[in-house]
Amino acid sequence: MTGRPLVEQLLSRNYKVRVIVRSAHKLSAEVVGNPNLTVVEESVLDLTDEEMAKHIKGCNAVVSCLGHVLDFNGMFGEPKKLCTDATQRLCEAIEKNNPSEPTKFILMNTVGVRNPDLRENRTWFERQLLSLLRHILPPHKDNETAVEHLHKNIGRENKHIQWCCVRPDTLTNDENSPYEISESPSTGILSGRPCTRSNVAHFMTELIKKGELWDKWKFRMPVIVNSERSVQ
Ligand SMILES: NC(=O)c1ccc[n+]([C@@H]2O[C@H](COP(=O)([O-])OP(=O)(O)OC[C@H]3O[C@@H](n4cnc5c(N)ncnc54)[C@H](OP(=O)(O)O)[C@@H]3O)[C@@H](O)[C@H]2O)c1
Repeated sequence: MTGRPLVEQLLSRNYKVRVIVRSAHKLSAEVVGNPNLTVVEESVLDLTDEEMAKHIKGCNAVVSCLGHVLDFNGMFGEPKKLCTDATQRLCEAIEKNNPSEPTKFILMNTVGVRNPDLRENRTWFERQLLSLLRHILPPHKDNETAVEHLHKNIGRENKHIQWCCVRPDTLTNDENSPYEISESPSTGILSGRPCTRSNVAHFMTELIKKGELWDKWKFRMPVIVNSERSVQ
């Protein structure tokens, strides 16, 4: 649901876009008909390393908008490490291609995952709640380990990859609106603020497009929420 507006916004700015999706019928006819779009219909973790490297060859930016389907199978079935394994394998594929300039890797994550570089304030209750989620909800643990991979294994000195982990708060399907980007969450876990998927897509598109914005947020985990003034 976030990948779709992201693709639409990139195409509207004349980027050439290659998508890896397991269900291409979910893309609109208008998007599929755009000559700047290439669709690879595959379940991303089923690709071999060689296929993965081939598909992302020549891409200046790679974005993962993956997320577990919110039903019993999606939450508790395989692949439990969907986001982590995809992050790891996409990064390996970037390195395998040995690009001459660092590739931007953008990971869609969640405000519920803390930035290991910062001492983000959480109350005792929130820390207990997050610890419980880590143990009972595999997707939460998966989001955490995907972030760990970027911090610990890719780091800041990788000559082929620069990364940014975008952390939206509560996602909605409203239209684009003013939004705010901050270093860390400003509200508690149970009092989250809405963020439209379109706004997440807009911010990711801006990160890809604007060198200055990228330099500001690379190796960081920006939190995105709709502006208060955009709330009716
Ligand atoms: N919901 C919230 O309020 C919220 C808040 C903050 C962050 N997030 C995070 O944001 C991310 C994306 O959110 P979203 O609402 O845009 O997600 P979404 O609409 O559920 O999209 C998830 C994508 O992942 C794909 N996918 C799921 N399981 C897969 C598998 N096993 N193999 C290959 N592809 C798979 C889905 O493919 P199909 O379309 O074929 O199923 C879909 O394209 C998630 O990681 C979520 O944790 C969510």
